[in-house]
Amino acid sequence: MEQDSFKKEQEKIISYIEEVLKNYLPKTPSYQKTIYDAMEYSVMAGGKRLRPMMMHQSYIMFGGKDEKVIEPFMAAIEMIHTYSLVHDDLPAMDNDEYRRGRKTTHIVFGEDMGILAGDALLNYAYETAVKGVMAARDKVSAVKALEILAKKAGITGMVGGQVVDVELTGKNPDKDQLDFIFRLKTGALLEASLMVGAALAGADDKDIELMEKAGLNIGMAFQIQDDILDVTSTTSELGKPVHSDEKNDKITYVALYGIEKAHSDVKQYSEKALSIFDTLEVKNEFLYTLTEKLINRRK
Ligand code: IPE
Ligand code: IPE
Ligand code: MG
Ligand code: MG
Ligand code: MG
Repeated sequence: MEQDSFKKEQEKIISYIEEVLKNYLPKTPSYQKTIYDAMEYSVMAGGKRLRPMMMHQSYIMFGGKDEKVIEPFMAAIEMIHTYSLVHDDLPAMDNDEYRRGRKTTHIVFGEDMGILAGDALLNYAYETAVKGVMAARDKVSAVKALEILAKKAGITGMVGGQVVDVELTGKNPDKDQLDFIFRLKTGALLEASLMVGAALAGADDKDIELMEKAGLNIGMAFQIQDDILDVTSTTSELGKPVHSDEKNDKITYVALYGIEKAHSDVKQYSEKALSIFDTLEVKNEFLYTLTEKLINRRK
């Protein structure tokens, strides 16, 4: 896809996602208003919206047409992703003070509310996704999508990856262990994005599996690039602190393999994802270009 039309399309999709998020965030609090504010503060802080974007594109690619089905799932995955960031930034974890260009949730609302805002977003994500299940005509596919979301966010997915990330902090993970961490902590939610879109559109298991493989490769590339940007970017460009990994004594892809191999592996994993898209009978030019662009992303 050509640069200009891609950029325009991307902007349009991002404002659509922002609207969806606003619509599905909870309203009318009582005494617990603080948690509503903290949820909104963290979710509406911007961010690339990559996961709902990929989910939406995957849904369209496989022929999905019902906004009432896909939108709650788009909101849900961004809530889960945002909760993972809120908790990742807590003092007990990466202890970071900036995220998405503003102070982290625990800095603004306190550590207690930071923990609770994460819990709230996680629970509300499923309350929201269930609205999509209720609206779906094909309930079996919708429940399958819900299962994918739950599994990829949980102990065999993002949470599992964070556990090993934390446990191996200050140690020397080998190649297998680092791959495991990246595949779970970052890959799993990207896999889920593509898989849930496909499942909700009624794609068969073979295609859902291909989307899982594509998501895995995008996830590996994405986390390697995240490690690269931690040493090559600036806080203002990234919207989050640089050198966070060194501060926390984390072994990164760059530390283990050097910057050059890191760059070339980002390219290789991304090209693998593109070659998987090539094998599908359905096509989506925007999703293809988006994946290509991630190779050289600066934020
Ligand atoms: C940050 O994710 C955490 C990682 C998995 C590396 P993003 O880079 O997608 O963060 P936002 O959503 O754009 O803020
Ligand atoms: C965390 O990886 C990925 C999550 C599951 C939140 P990082 O700790 O490297 O993410 P950033 O750099 O803080 O966004
Ligand atoms: Mg972390
Ligand atoms: Mg972190
Ligand atoms: Mg990082």
